[in-house]
Amino acid sequence: MPEAFDAARARHDELSRTVRDARYRYYVLSDPPFTDAEFDALFQELLALEEAHPALATAASPTQQVGAPVDTAFPPARHPQPMLSLDNAFSREELVAWSERVNKRLGADAEHPVRFVCELKIDGVAIDLVYRDGLLERAATRGTGVIGEDVTAQIATIDDVPYRLHTDDPPSLLEVRGEVYYPLDAFEAMNAARIERGEEAFMNPRNGASGALRQKDPEVTRQRPLSVWCHGFGVVEGHTFTTHSEALAWVRDAGLPTPLETAVFDDVEDAWAFVERWTSERHEVPYEIDGVVVKVDRLDQREQLGFTSRAPRWAIAYKMPPVEQETTLRGIEVNVGRTGKATPYAVLEPVVVAGTTITFATLHNEIQVHAKDVRVGDRVMVRRAGDVIPEVVGPVLSKRPPDAQPWSMPADCPFCAQPLVRPEGEAHHRCENVDCPNRLRESLTHLAGRGALDIEGLGEKNVDLLLAEGLVTDLADVFRLRDRRDDLLALERFGEKKVDNLLAGIEAGRQQPLDRVLVALNIHHLGPTYAKTLVRALPSLDAIRSATPEQLEAIDGIGPIIARAVHAWFATPRNAQLIDELVELGVTAEAEPAEATGEDADLLAGLTVVVTGTLEGYTRDEAKAALEARGAKVSGSVSGRTSVVVVGADAGSKADKAQQLGIPMADEAAFERFLATGQLPTA
Ligand code: IVH
Repeated sequence: MPEAFDAARARHDELSRTVRDARYRYYVLSDPPFTDAEFDALFQELLALEEAHPALATAASPTQQVGAPVDTAFPPARHPQPMLSLDNAFSREELVAWSERVNKRLGADAEHPVRFVCELKIDGVAIDLVYRDGLLERAATRGTGVIGEDVTAQIATIDDVPYRLHTDDPPSLLEVRGEVYYPLDAFEAMNAARIERGEEAFMNPRNGASGALRQKDPEVTRQRPLSVWCHGFGVVEGHTFTTHSEALAWVRDAGLPTPLETAVFDDVEDAWAFVERWTSERHEVPYEIDGVVVKVDRLDQREQLGFTSRAPRWAIAYKMPPVEQETTLRGIEVNVGRTGKATPYAVLEPVVVAGTTITFATLHNEIQVHAKDVRVGDRVMVRRAGDVIPEVVGPVLSKRPPDAQPWSMPADCPFCAQPLVRPEGEAHHRCENVDCPNRLRESLTHLAGRGALDIEGLGEKNVDLLLAEGLVTDLADVFRLRDRRDDLLALERFGEKKVDNLLAGIEAGRQQPLDRVLVALNIHHLGPTYAKTLVRALPSLDAIRSATPEQLEAIDGIGPIIARAVHAWFATPRNAQLIDELVELGVTAEAEPAEATGEDADLLAGLTVVVTGTLEGYTRDEAKAALEARGAKVSGSVSGRTSVVVVGADAGSKADKAQQLGIPMADEAAFERFLATGQLPTA
């Protein structure tokens, strides 16, 4: 036994050091050495050791502490009430076991069930707000849980946090807990801009928020669009709440943001259903969540349950499967896109991240590879959040093979062997060979893609096949395939049906409206929105190709960069020839009258529309295009600024949220009326 204890103590010492160091790097340096899941696993191991050997659970153990030592750069702030952590559950069984313990301690039964509040667990930075007589007195980070860092000046830059509570009768003291987070759209935009500028990207939104909040100069914090969301309370004086949900509603009325997705249940099975639903819809909210927190609603019952040394007994955090995983970086390869941009990407030992197997992940450019210092052979963290392309977050340095070498961009294009160059002041290398076979391949895939001519049957595989067989040697050849039916039929992979489908897809592509033709052409910077703007002003290919840069720039909504790019493209002889050939082959060269006059162009101007669920008559892209063609803004998330939510079949949380916010909703019929007349359905 003593031997077993010694071994346990040695492991406990080692784990304690690792956990303490990890907390310091997470909370203070905003640079965690582990993923949340890895940290949780280490922590669970510590807890298990202490359960087997209670003597190890001394006051010095990391299990008895929360947070990390504070950064002395900020003034220390003692929390009126300590900020504790939460115990975790990783399965339905653990959640149910927790609820059984709660019920037992409270003597609850089927007649008098315990009421649970379920909230999303947002992956942000914990914050403590102290309002005295309705005015924000101080904001502090968690720190050690007892003493945090005073970040009042930084928090004061966040619009979501009112300086004065919106109430005539404020409590004399109100301590509100919440999370500071980086909204996902803003985070992605910021990272994309950093990558374009050749700056190091942030690993994830939490680190982005932590870094932004812990800026010594609050003016720097002000530049970052942080948000806050409140989920708890510390000391309250001069006001009595009886339930958590009542307290949340009160602070919401007082102007503090609270999560909209919160729900109240009497049965733990309903709480589990909430967990399951949000695990599958976790990317439907505009912030990153990593779990669901289930809490006892009645405050008197909370008091009865009390606390362990590190966490309340009245709440539990269900942790969702992580969006980051570790795997081996087998290689780094380079792709060359349709505009010649060379993008390094990681070839990975396949790994399942949040339900999807990942084999490739982008590395953006050479600067990012160097900033992250990832090397072939490294164990790396891979992250996949929602629809975002999978990314390599960084290496696990402790596992680096001794012979791993820094990577650099190959000198030559892997597809055409011409030199890869990095223009002065740019972050990306390029292949400047316009005949690079991979540029053609990517251009063809783009031409046939959804935002462009949307040619069914012309996906990547068939593009490769047609190229390999020499049936297509440039973009115009796609529209010559109708004369090569026999050659197509001779291909092994193609039966009659497939050939007919492909040719029908190409015929439909030939008829696509002019703005889509423009998108298909691969003109630098010219996406769907600008293409529409252009077509409204210049309703034919002839008009566009003969416009001077000045005429282009004079178009409302077209700036100098696009004007120059469009002009340069049409002025290039091989492009001019391509246009002649496409027109000859019957591709749309004139705008439809409605498109041209812009009849509907402003019908929905100023309105913001969210589309959710499946519509029968429209794909998501088509619905979006129809709305945008009429001047509406289409957004991915429902907020107070949403004008209408179009709700198709199997709509999820967005419809619920619209309901909660009282935003008008349109079914498919109402959507069509809306498109035709601009009239909003009533809420
Ligand atoms: S309640 C006694 N509710 O997750 C602590 N916490 O891992 C009560 N968090 O310390 C916390 N979303 O910083 C609560 N809806 C939510 C939350 C939430 C995120 C954070 C919070 C907490 C940590 C525990």
